[in-house]
Amino acid sequence: MVFRPWIAGGAVCAALLIAALPAIAQEDDEDFDPSKLAASLNQSQLVRQGKQVYDRYCVGCHGANGDGEGVAAHWLDPRPRDFTRAAFKFRTTPSGTLPTDEDLHRTISRGVFRSSMPAWFLMAETEKVAVIQYIKTFSDRWSDPDEYEPPIFIPDPPDFVGSPESVARGKELYDLMRCHNCHGETGRGDGPSAPTLTDDKGRRIIPFDFTSGVLKGGPGLKDIYRTFSTGLDGTPMPSYYDSLPNGEDRWHLVSYIVSLRGSGTK
Ligand code: HEC
Ligand code: HEC
Repeated sequence: MVFRPWIAGGAVCAALLIAALPAIAQEDDEDFDPSKLAASLNQSQLVRQGKQVYDRYCVGCHGANGDGEGVAAHWLDPRPRDFTRAAFKFRTTPSGTLPTDEDLHRTISRGVFRSSMPAWFLMAETEKVAVIQYIKTFSDRWSDPDEYEPPIFIPDPPDFVGSPESVARGKELYDLMRCHNCHGETGRGDGPSAPTLTDDKGRRIIPFDFTSGVLKGGPGLKDIYRTFSTGLDGTPMPSYYDSLPNGEDRWHLVSYIVSLRGSGTK
């Protein structure tokens, strides 16, 4: 994550220092299932514990009402998520639906690269599970069964990813799907539509610059694949699940995007 001392007021400094110092990269534990742990615990106790965790670590940015207006929020760009809208960027579920507990757990454990959202991987698993249940109390969307869809399957990257042929096909698809409208001809985030884009709260948002390294949604090839399979809710970044139904095409796009940053991780 990026520490920006020039925008950091006292509150931001405190929040960042407490939260971010242990935030060195660590492999995700893919076998851990937060929803199973949550189901095995007493629900009202879990929400009560979640409130304690939230009030201690999250409230300064995300706000007492979950509206993203904590005392530090004013200095942050992007702004902390407004949980009362329950629109989440980093999901394995289809566009417009709620994330899984695993999705929220991944975000909380890894943090959000290029934003002030810290990585909380030293937090006890029960605390993470509890705070996940607590942030669900900020929106009624979580009690509506129609808001849920099962996750989209994200396969392991095929061997052709990164080959020159795959990069070339990815470039064709990038042009065909008009990604350049927002992300620009050379992927620098400077397409013709870029200056007009706003998020769902009307704030200016900049398309990702693919030449600049690690993406917000994570460092792996699967993270890139996930981004255009599900879209980033609350932002103009659409889902290409329907318009690119062939998974291979989505992998070619991954090849192209990784080629723009000059290196890749599996
Ligand atoms: C220093 C400020 C800060 C603190 C402290 C903080 N967050 Fe965040 N959080 C952010 C910002 C900023 C974003 C938005 C990132 C973006 O939009 O790219 C965010 C986004 C999120 C998201 C949304 C991810 C998505 O898919 O859209 C979740 C969930 C979240 N935070 C949970 C937490 C929890 C739980 C805590 C406490 C344990 C916490 N945050 C503490 C700043 C913070
Ligand atoms: C209407 C504008 C728009 C179009 C078209 C668009 N994007 Fe995006 N994209 C965005 C914005 C805005 C963001 C940044 C969102 C953020 O920072 O939260 C983004 C972010 C991304 C990210 C980075 C996510 C991350 O984790 O940081 C990837 C990858 C991406 N877009 C790929 C594509 C591809 C591939 C296409 C074409 C198939 C495409 N985009 C088309 C607006 C667009």
